[in-house]
Amino acid sequence: MPLSIKKPADMLKKLGQVVYIAGTQWGDEGKGKLVDILSEKYDVIARSCGGANAGHTIICTRNGKAEKFVFHLLPSGILHEGKICLIGNGTVIHAPTLVEEIRSLKEQGIDARSRLLISDRAHLIFEYHKKIDEIQEERKGSLKVGTTKRGIGPAYTDKIERRGIRMGELKNFESFAKRLRENAEHHMKTYGFHYDMEQEINFYKDALELLSPLIVNTAQYLDDAYKAGKNILVEGAQGTHLDIDFGTYPFVTSSTTISGGAVTGLGVAPNRLSNIIGIVKAYTTRVGAGPFPTELSNFEGEMLREKGVEFGATTGRPRRCGWFDSTVVKNAITLNGITSINLTKLDVLTGFKTVKIGTRYKLDGEEIRFIPASLEDFQKVEVEYEEMPGWNESIAKARKFKDLPKNAKNYVERLESLLNTPINFIGTGAHRDEIILR
Ligand code: GDP
Ligand code: IMO
Ligand code: MG
Repeated sequence: MPLSIKKPADMLKKLGQVVYIAGTQWGDEGKGKLVDILSEKYDVIARSCGGANAGHTIICTRNGKAEKFVFHLLPSGILHEGKICLIGNGTVIHAPTLVEEIRSLKEQGIDARSRLLISDRAHLIFEYHKKIDEIQEERKGSLKVGTTKRGIGPAYTDKIERRGIRMGELKNFESFAKRLRENAEHHMKTYGFHYDMEQEINFYKDALELLSPLIVNTAQYLDDAYKAGKNILVEGAQGTHLDIDFGTYPFVTSSTTISGGAVTGLGVAPNRLSNIIGIVKAYTTRVGAGPFPTELSNFEGEMLREKGVEFGATTGRPRRCGWFDSTVVKNAITLNGITSINLTKLDVLTGFKTVKIGTRYKLDGEEIRFIPASLEDFQKVEVEYEEMPGWNESIAKARKFKDLPKNAKNYVERLESLLNTPINFIGTGAHRDEIILR
């Protein structure tokens, strides 16, 4: 039986106790907005992968005026009082960014610290990781990934190389500082740069009082919470096609961004996941380099960027824009086990005379259902399109599916049939309230 979520009251019952929110394209699909909306129903909101390369935007009304929040490390449930927000072992944490997010929220009257838990196994990102990220990008020349330069890849490299420093080590400060000095020396020698590590150590000395009480065994916390019947929402970061294994390698991030990453990145067993919601933008965007078969390098691409305000929430870079790509989203549905879809930014398509959907890929004349592993093959892929009539009426005020113009409804229904997965949420604007339940 496909899901149907017509009323907010149905959400929890239909979605179940542990839900993963997955990006299905190349990130920035609008994950933060749905996490914020669902947080009202969930007790614990957890991040399982990535770090401050993520930028999750929430627009809501507080004290009578619209406010915008962009979270890089804090889970997007943090605006909801009484909800526990947890940063899991699969993430990489740049502590100065985290401390700044906590401070800035405090200024806005939100006490994040009292509701935040950080895994003792999460790895830390130091200034040398950021420096290495920059140097590696420079050296790659035309093969530059276009990273966010947040030190993500180098921190995960240290983790895999077994020289990384974990959050829990902060509790034994002398040995933490010693390890930081050793790693910094090692990297400075290898990459030929210099920075003032003592200043960084001083930052940690000062931040210890704030961070130390937040560092716990989060896998154990989640197990206790699960057994006590608490509801857990896992906020994925990035998107399926930025996944280290299944993305468009090497133009990917360095972590597992699919739902399996919730298992390894939090220590929540696979059979505890009840539903996986795929966040699907009504068209496609990508920041950074790498293949993008439905990319538009014409006025329509410009129009999507302008209307969708497609500029990176972390780096401010203009996002590349293109038509909807069903092969990409179907691939994400399979890899994540997506049971329900939130179609976002449908409003951005208002005003297009026609809208196109990439329905199939052909490689050397044969249809392919999956994304090829080789970049050469991916570059050769031919996309088959379907063109549908657009709509001009604003959909910002639509709160029910039946309120949408006929052509918008046709577009949603066509996507649903191509994807063979229920579209239960439809975004009609950036504000928390601008959503249709279906
Ligand atoms: P995330 O990284 O997946 O959380 O997404 P980002 O926050 O990076 O980018 C999504 C952008 O689209 C943000 O600016 C959101 O405020 C905005 N957004 C989310 N849903 C909608 C929607 O349905 N309509 C419009 N117009 N904007 C949306
Ligand atoms: P959210 O969670 C969009 C992209 C970068 C680059 C590649 C590798 O907001 O959807 P990295 O710094 O991770 O080594 O960069 O991945 N990237 C994202 N693109 N949204 C994100 O996160 C991203 N996180 C990383 O642009 O192409
Ligand atoms: Mg983003």
